[in-house]
Amino acid sequence: MEVVIVQDATAGGELIAETIAALLRRKRDALLGVATGSTPLPIYQALTGLVKSGAVDASGARIAQLDEYVGLPQGHPESYRSVVLREVVAPLGLSEESFLGPDGTAEDVAAACEAYDRALAEAGGVDLQLLGIGTDGHIGFNEPCSSLASRTRIKTLTRQTREDNARFFDSIDDVPHHVITQGIGTILEARHLILLATGEGKAEAVAQTVEGPVAALVPASALQLHPHATVVVDEAAASKLK
Ligand code: F6R
Repeated sequence: MEVVIVQDATAGGELIAETIAALLRRKRDALLGVATGSTPLPIYQALTGLVKSGAVDASGARIAQLDEYVGLPQGHPESYRSVVLREVVAPLGLSEESFLGPDGTAEDVAAACEAYDRALAEAGGVDLQLLGIGTDGHIGFNEPCSSLASRTRIKTLTRQTREDNARFFDSIDDVPHHVITQGIGTILEARHLILLATGEGKAEAVAQTVEGPVAALVPASALQLHPHATVVVDEAAASKLK
């Protein structure tokens, strides 16, 4: 695992956007796995800047979603489909056809999860997966104690994660209890993993991810098992590293 400490979130976003641009120059139709939440927004802004300045052509890129709330209508502004379309697909000038995501509105959620794992494999697998990290060490919505071999499936959010995400909704009561998330095993199949963590609130989870044992209690520690994993942290998120 490679750990890169940057000054702040903007610098982290720029660094990762350059890595994505380099990938797209090598592989025009790269499949980019994207996370939602606040942390990756500087990446998407920096990548959009590179595209607009002509530094990279992203028109062949394909985008895959990491997770999705169960039960939110697809058009709900906080469904992760809406967020990815708004923050990534539209700014990069891509069409919805370039986008893959799990169906959080499916009646048969288990079948939708299996279908999503199949769709990712049929698309040739994720070339570069962007990850954030929860204060409890989750990646995607693999909460502590998730199997490190897990596949895409339905999970129940912890109270902590629902509280963390309540800022996107009118109240915590509106935050769904269930999500579909790529499993840790699914995530580990991506060719390159890049986790960005910013702010002091992530410092403990980052320290356990990077320096703790590989353990289901800290799902992000599974990155230690990956042959090409990069953890980009700002100084605050790095503050508990030895
Ligand atoms: C969301 C996701 C989550 C977030 C994590 C951190 O797609 O994968 O694991 O990355 O909850 O969220 P923020 O970045 O909002 O702190």
